[in-house]
Amino acid sequence: MACIPSVTLNTALKMPLFGLGTHKAVGYSNVYRMLDEALKLGYRLIDTAAVYRNEEDIGTCLKELLPKYGLNRSDIFITSKLAPKDQGEGAAYKACVKSIERLECEYLDLYLIHWPGKQKLKPHDVRNRQFRMESWLDLEKLLNDGLVKNIGVSNYNVRHLDDMLTYSTIPPAVLQVEYHPLLVQKDLVAWCQKQQVHLQAYRSIAIEEGRSDPLVIGVAEKHAKTVSQVLLKWAIQQDIGVIPKSTNEDHLKENIDIWDFDLTQDEITDLEKLHKGTRFCWDPTPMA
Ligand SMILES: NC(=O)c1ccc[n+]([C@@H]2O[C@H](COP(=O)([O-])OP(=O)(O)OC[C@H]3O[C@@H](n4cnc5c(N)ncnc54)[C@H](OP(=O)(O)O)[C@@H]3O)[C@@H](O)[C@H]2O)c1
Repeated sequence: MACIPSVTLNTALKMPLFGLGTHKAVGYSNVYRMLDEALKLGYRLIDTAAVYRNEEDIGTCLKELLPKYGLNRSDIFITSKLAPKDQGEGAAYKACVKSIERLECEYLDLYLIHWPGKQKLKPHDVRNRQFRMESWLDLEKLLNDGLVKNIGVSNYNVRHLDDMLTYSTIPPAVLQVEYHPLLVQKDLVAWCQKQQVHLQAYRSIAIEEGRSDPLVIGVAEKHAKTVSQVLLKWAIQQDIGVIPKSTNEDHLKENIDIWDFDLTQDEITDLEKLHKGTRFCWDPTPMA
């Protein structure tokens, strides 16, 4: 079974550098098969969100599957995220409690503000800032009340993060953003290093034209690995966490089989040359 490295967060707690994404993994039988295989292979971090509409199935399946693999709640790291519709004072706190209930997991290891804006507000609406500030203060209460072990944000840019420093009393432990060789967000890496915030990447694998680039294919061939494995290891070797999603048994195996090779520093730097600022998910730049 894979032995997955961890990062120590600024809360002094550990988080696996590699985990399972679950966006679009829906339906009890799909989720059951995915988690059964993933736990068997050694996946220990599960990334979900209220908007993925799979928290309840994940909770039910974990109740059934953890004993099967001799695991306890504390062996698993569960992340969930605040839906943009639930941003704001009191609402964010309640939304997290609901996520914990749906996941039947007693506490969350990590709770993130999913998006720097509130649903239905226009991006330039200045009330977005007020809502995310109120949400963050709720997340701080959740942490102080022991309902979550770590708190963080997702899809924030440097402007949102700098602003956060003016109203937070607890710094984020994690920033989760889109990050891959086509979108090398150096400003966020530098901010996270300075503030001791862990950067976790999403969308590491499904980066269409990046996957067919001769540079990536060449590196994969040299190491007798797949393009997906190279893309995941490229982030991990920079201490950036990854959470590839798959409901396919072969892909689940392939994605976790990345501990028997290392990219050279030149290969890591070369892959950055693919950067074009390409986003496959949402762009938070216009968000007030
Ligand atoms: N915070 C945010 O706003 C945010 C945004 C996006 C994602 N996320 C999180 O990050 C996770 C990962 O991001 P993502 O799901 O967008 O993208 P991803 O993990 O890069 O790619 C997932 C896609 O790639 C396929 N895939 C997985 N392994 C593969 C392999 N070895 N070879 C070929 N194809 C493979 C999957 O299909 P199969 O299932 O068929 O394998 C799926 O279609 C999400 O699931 C979610 O938990 C967070």
